[in-house]
Amino acid sequence: MLKLGVNIDHVATLREARYRGRGHGEPDPVEAALICESAGAHGITAHLREDRRHIQDRDVWKLRKVIKTRLNLEMANTPEILGIALKLKPDIVCVVPERRQEITTEAGLDVVGQQAALADARKRLNDAGIEVSLFIAPDPAQIEAAGRVGSQFIELHTGSFAEGFSKRWGEAAHEPKRSANEPAREDAPPTGSPELLRLISGATQAHALGLRVNAGHGLSYANLPALRHVPHLVELNIGHSIVSRAVTVGLEAAVKEMLRLMENYPE
Ligand code: PXP
Repeated sequence: MLKLGVNIDHVATLREARYRGRGHGEPDPVEAALICESAGAHGITAHLREDRRHIQDRDVWKLRKVIKTRLNLEMANTPEILGIALKLKPDIVCVVPERRQEITTEAGLDVVGQQAALADARKRLNDAGIEVSLFIAPDPAQIEAAGRVGSQFIELHTGSFAEGFSKRWGEAAHEPKRSANEPAREDAPPTGSPELLRLISGATQAHALGLRVNAGHGLSYANLPALRHVPHLVELNIGHSIVSRAVTVGLEAAVKEMLRLMENYPE
């Protein structure tokens, strides 16, 4: 079954917009995480950025304590954040780029350029019992390098796919269906889109290398059905679309709607 990790960074972004530096405030990303879990999410994702622009240290420690599913900590590979991860012991770390020199042209992590440093961090995290994922563009050279680093997972960057989808289908494509009777956009035929083809071949290549494959960034109620063409997916990490939908229908309903759409992914 395709799993859903809900990224709660955007809940913290809203809190920080009003309460930055105050050590408290609403909405509480930890409370949101618990609602996501009780709605059926398989994991919670939070990105502790070097600049702490949304998730704060206190959030990840509380999350570690209270969530019952899997905690996926997104982080840059820096000494400070790596040190926190090794103490926090999330179930999995997803290494993401935060600085310009760490990213490839498609904005995923430049694994080729940082292979030795990533292999070292990967080993330290694995030795502490933490699985490792690398957030990369569906680029054959980056996927091969991820295999050499020895991470357990990659997370395929779906940003270009999502952008291409909304260009082809217009902004309305981002709107979820309004009623249960309205068919999902399963018939949306982006199978010929170059971004989708890159995801398909990236997932195939990674699977052949023994990597497990997650995907995320820019996924929405509208573009998600097209992902059923991408093989071997284990988990999707979705934040913005779910948190946005929650503003109108509530977080529990928003998570459940996404899970329902994901049921169409082939076993
Ligand atoms: N995966 C990774 C690695 C991310 O950094 C993010 C947040 O930018 C997401 C998934 C979720 O993206 P979105 O909020 O667009 O769903």
